[in-house]
Amino acid sequence: MRILVVHAHPVAASFNRALFHHTVERLMAAGHEVDALDLYAEDFDPRLTSAEREAYHDLEKNCANVSAHVERLLAADALVLVYPVWNYGFPAILKGWFDRVFVPGVSFALVNGQVSPTLHNIRKLVVVTTYGGTRFRTWLMGDPPRKLIGRMLRALIKPGAPVSYLAHYNLNLATDQSRAAFMARVGAVMDRF
Ligand SMILES: Cc1cc2nc3c(=O)[nH]c(=O)nc-3n(C[C@H](O)[C@H](O)[C@H](O)COP(=O)(O)O)c2cc1C
Repeated sequence: MRILVVHAHPVAASFNRALFHHTVERLMAAGHEVDALDLYAEDFDPRLTSAEREAYHDLEKNCANVSAHVERLLAADALVLVYPVWNYGFPAILKGWFDRVFVPGVSFALVNGQVSPTLHNIRKLVVVTTYGGTRFRTWLMGDPPRKLIGRMLRALIKPGAPVSYLAHYNLNLATDQSRAAFMARVGAVMDRF
């Protein structure tokens, strides 16, 4: 498969970055064609500009500034996201990637005011994420990022496509053992992608 792996963490020595490298390596070892997109390394600008907002519904112009990112997304058969949960959501750089790249004509069409998903080239979605808080505390908050993946992103891709949500909660109290176990779990999922 051709797999776009998108990563959003600023620290090279972070556990999250290690998860990204591990994901890419294991997918490549399994014979997949991997497009590794490190948003910080590529200095992606997450800000939707005034001109982009004005042209948001203009299919001729709305992705002119991010056409390379749109091409990479539309060339993929599968999408993998590797990021930490920040303020019960995506890091701003990843949120901005959705805001600017997942525009009308790319991930959905607006037909008579109704959203009609079109990102049907994505036949599989896997999320690798880490939380500082416990699963219970996060559940009390409604776990918004899990819902965004399981409901919003799931709805945009090919209907019925498998979605996996691999999460290490409670990283504030993580041990070498729990990190290694999660890394192994991620590797095993990539081996049989
Ligand atoms: C700006 C910021 C906001 C955060 N917000 C949350 C949060 O809302 N919920 C949570 O469980 N952890 C939160 N965390 C903790 C991160 O999820 C945690 O540090 C990260 O998953 C650990 O990965 P790392 O060690 O690779 O950075 C936050 C951390 C930062 C820096």
